[in-house]
Amino acid sequence: MDSEPPAARRRLFVQNFGCQMNDYDVERMREVLGARGYDAADRAEDADLIVINTCSVREKAEAKVASAAGRYRQLKTERPGVMVAIGGCVAQQEGERLLKRIPVADFTFGPDQIPSLPELLDRRANGGRFAATDVTEVEQYRFLSAEPRPGQVPVTALVTIQKGCDNHCAFCVVPATRGREVSRPWQEVVDEVARFVAAGAREVTLIGQNVNSYHGVGLPKDQSGGDDFAELLARVDRVEGLKRLRYTTSHPHDFTDKVADAFRDLRTLCAWLHLPVQSGSSRTLKRMVRDYTRDQYLRQIDYVRSVCPDISLSTDIIVGYPGETDADFAETLTLLERVEYDSIYSFEYSERPDTPALKLALRDNVAPEVKAERLQAVQALQKGITARRLGRWVGRDVEVLVEGDSARYPGQLCGRTTGNEMVNFAGPPSLTGELVTVKIVAARGHTLVGEHAQAGHRLAVIA
Ligand code: SAH
Ligand code: SF4
Ligand code: F3S
Repeated sequence: MDSEPPAARRRLFVQNFGCQMNDYDVERMREVLGARGYDAADRAEDADLIVINTCSVREKAEAKVASAAGRYRQLKTERPGVMVAIGGCVAQQEGERLLKRIPVADFTFGPDQIPSLPELLDRRANGGRFAATDVTEVEQYRFLSAEPRPGQVPVTALVTIQKGCDNHCAFCVVPATRGREVSRPWQEVVDEVARFVAAGAREVTLIGQNVNSYHGVGLPKDQSGGDDFAELLARVDRVEGLKRLRYTTSHPHDFTDKVADAFRDLRTLCAWLHLPVQSGSSRTLKRMVRDYTRDQYLRQIDYVRSVCPDISLSTDIIVGYPGETDADFAETLTLLERVEYDSIYSFEYSERPDTPALKLALRDNVAPEVKAERLQAVQALQKGITARRLGRWVGRDVEVLVEGDSARYPGQLCGRTTGNEMVNFAGPPSLTGELVTVKIVAARGHTLVGEHAQAGHRLAVIA
């Protein structure tokens, strides 16, 4: 029997940055540390252990580590027993260097070290500061299983299907921070989805940096070419009680017609695809080592629209990549006009350590003011397109999965359409977790305004 009295329970506060991988990792940290006696704290001030979970994808993301750590310095002076640990991609990449830069850190740890957190805490309690950044060999890597507890899971859950990335996109630091790609065995994925559904989740997003190259069903990687991922989707689709399925992120290289066909064929797969293009210029794409041309990408978009005409599309754009000319950039604008994405994420190129671009001698040579102008041009163009695309829903009845109270509009509920558009509407909180039909009455910024039962007598619970 555990001899620790309840009063000995401690509190954990996590400040998280970055992508869905980090979101997922935080949940695993909570579980690993929960078993070791840590409950969640809402504020850093109440915590015994503070974890800063970092992202290094762009310089701005990395700068957040120092400012976050700065905030906890005072706290640690007031309560010297408080531990501060730094996890995530900056920790992995910087190792010992980060300990030097951030004196407030007790220890740092890479993503592969999450299962060992209890031992790392003991090690620190008994000795000096350290960086725990060993990576697990691909063959030995084991995915931590989520332990969703009934009634304590969100309506929408994340399930990881892959770690790392074997691509060589020249701008990207992720292969250096997350290591080689490992596919999670399909049965583990299906079981975890089923556990989330049993605990109350209605929607699952399968996550990985490059999900289409998943090869955990059994075909050898070099032969699977998207087929394994399509097969995984089909198997997850059969999980009883699952209402909606999504996945992110796709790389166009492995996005085959077979994967696209799933939008037409599967019961649960939502009509939403995030397919990062990065640039509309084939010349730039080649220099980014993205492995597809503008025309190949457009053909994929046309095909996916042919099988799922109402699909909502989103993408990532980088402006100011080394050597990007005005003519290259103009092609990004024309691509945005041609595709008409529902939404985009756009970034100025940010040179990162240990990326292929440096080895290819592609130095950050677009002037900051040119990058800023280009970013502004991309965003201004997309603003109109997003407004037009959102407008297509106005007047229509759409199916919304209710996620809970709206953070932005007190007293309202929020949920998402199959196309991942956020809808706010008034309705009873008891609808949380239900799929309901909502009439869209307006578009507002990036979100939709819906009309609920009492106002319009149109609401029908359909599942
Ligand atoms: N695995 C995903 C991308 C992960 S990073 C994919 O392949 O699509 C998310 C986005 O950050 C990328 O799509 C890219 O648009 C942007 N990004 C990555 N590295 C960057 C860099 N060095 N500078 C600017 N943006 C970058
Ligand atoms: Fe980075 Fe490319 Fe891998 Fe995405 S696919 S994580 S952009 S290397
Ligand atoms: Fe950032 Fe690491 Fe994700 S660098 S984008 S947190 S994989």
